[in-house]
Amino acid sequence: MTELLRIEHLGISPRNDPQHMLVKNISLSLARGKTTCIVGESGSGKSLTALSIMQLLSKQLVMQGRVLFEGQDISRLDNAQMQCIRGKQIGMIFQEPMTSLNPVLTVGFQIGEPLQIHIGLKGSALKQKVASLMTQVGIDPARADSYPDELSGGQRQRVMIAMSIACEPALLIADEPTTALDVTVQAQVLRLLDALKDRMQMAMLFITHDFGVVADIADDVIVMFRGEIVERGPVSQVLNQPQHPYTRALLACVPDAEGKKQLQPIRYDWLTPA
Ligand SMILES: Nc1ncnc2c1ncn2[C@@H]1O[C@H](COP(=O)(O)OP(=O)(O)OP(=O)(O)O)[C@@H](O)[C@H]1O
Ligand SMILES: [Mg+2]
Repeated sequence: MTELLRIEHLGISPRNDPQHMLVKNISLSLARGKTTCIVGESGSGKSLTALSIMQLLSKQLVMQGRVLFEGQDISRLDNAQMQCIRGKQIGMIFQEPMTSLNPVLTVGFQIGEPLQIHIGLKGSALKQKVASLMTQVGIDPARADSYPDELSGGQRQRVMIAMSIACEPALLIADEPTTALDVTVQAQVLRLLDALKDRMQMAMLFITHDFGVVADIADDVIVMFRGEIVERGPVSQVLNQPQHPYTRALLACVPDAEGKKQLQPIRYDWLTPA
């Protein structure tokens, strides 16, 4: 395993209430070419964990621990140094695309911005690359001159995905990236991310509520509960032989709907009755 990112003893608490740990003693390691899914109920600290890697936590919060990226502790870098890493070496798809896009800039400009800043692409080469990225995420490149509010929620989410993968980052952090998409587009985007991961040997940290997605793309799974990791392991182990009662409860909540066929091998006799 080639380790790309390591989080050591991450803790997050409100600045004005340091005893109240929102995230407690999280340690994890991500390898190149592998996808790790984080699952857990709402409020369990998934997004805070993701944001802390990028040093994008709110100023009201304080962080303990270290984040090592390619062996370097990036939790101590200043903002200018982080800017060079964000969007280039580490891409992030945020949970709320509406608040992450600039309403006064066209989506084509915003997809091209990281390519201009980090790689120096311009002119027709830039335009071509933006069109190719838009095609890859399933948006007609003719929409490049549209503004975010002229697109649907799902299209905006796809713009965010195109921006995040533009520079082919070594690590992609995706916080519920496909929740707003319909099933067909979701499948298409998952295939795209999976293919990029294989082609670029990209590491992916993928936050989701959807065990169908987990079964589809995860190599490893981390289960969070109330700010802590309660279970982790290879996807087949966590889905088929969940050890922690909370993981069993989460799996027991998975709806028995069509489209969840990947979950059929799960032995529900392992689960405690709801
Ligand atoms: N700026 C903040 N100040 C105080 N508490 C916060 C702040 N941001 C988040 N929290 C709290 O930290 C906890 C973890 O939040 P987080 O956003 O990481 O949850 P999550 O697991 O991503 O949930 P969801 O699945 O709903 O996205 C929550 O209880 C949340 O209310
Ligand atoms: Mg979240």
